[in-house]
Amino acid sequence: MNLIFLGPPGAGKGTLAVKAVEILNIPHISTGAIFRSAIADQSPLGRKVKAIIDAGKLVDDETTIELVKERLAGEDVAKGYILDGFPRTIAQAEALASFSKTDAAVNFDIPDSSILERLGGRRVCRKCGRNFHVIFNNTKKEGVCDYCGGEIYTRDDDKPEAVQKRLEVYRVQTAPLIEFYRNKGILLDVDARPGVDEVVENFKRALAGG
Ligand code: AP5
Ligand code: MG
Repeated sequence: MNLIFLGPPGAGKGTLAVKAVEILNIPHISTGAIFRSAIADQSPLGRKVKAIIDAGKLVDDETTIELVKERLAGEDVAKGYILDGFPRTIAQAEALASFSKTDAAVNFDIPDSSILERLGGRRVCRKCGRNFHVIFNNTKKEGVCDYCGGEIYTRDDDKPEAVQKRLEVYRVQTAPLIEFYRNKGILLDVDARPGVDEVVENFKRALAGG
């Protein structure tokens, strides 16, 4: 099954994706995570995108589309994938349709107030990329990942100015994809407001057709 996770910053896409991987046994591909790993490695891609991401803007379509196209050529996606954070523009959605068939686009339905609360308290593992939250889902030991022992940090793009920019970019460039996929008849709305376990149940119900 080829799935897209579509939603505003901080909606819980990465968090649900970790659970969905266990349920569906298909890989989770997050363009944001790929970019962050390139930044950490100080690779040419990382150097190119760092300032853009820290400012909350979008990386250009050409770079992002090429990256995803290459990744989807990997053998591990034969049975499907979860694309988290791609596509984010109509141009990316059209490009994706030219090299892969999407079965469903999961739309994370959540108000701005929850987004700000979630992003304000988010902490991330530098090693495995898992997301935590100082109130909703804290690590057992301060500053240490529960799963891999990696160092916990705050993403540079979770600063208030960058968050505002990301929300604005989402509204202008990404939200139109909701109608794009609704018109194709493959949009699945998921109520992303409740706690993680309930969101997982909402997701399973949506996949099962209601
Ligand atoms: P990306 O990494 O994709 O960031 P994003 O879309 O802004 O989304 P986030 O990762 O911030 O949020 P999320 O929905 O994954 O929420 P999370 O699960 O962490 O992209 C980063 C940047 O890369 C972009 O700004 C852009 O520059 C670039 N980029 C990436 N893709 C691109 C593309 N296609 N084109 C161009 N540029 C691209 O949850 C948030 C917090 O809430 C966590 O603390 C979590 O613990 C908590 N939480 C989650 N679910 C719940 C719940 N149900 N209840 C309570 N707390 C919860
Ligand atoms: Mg994420």
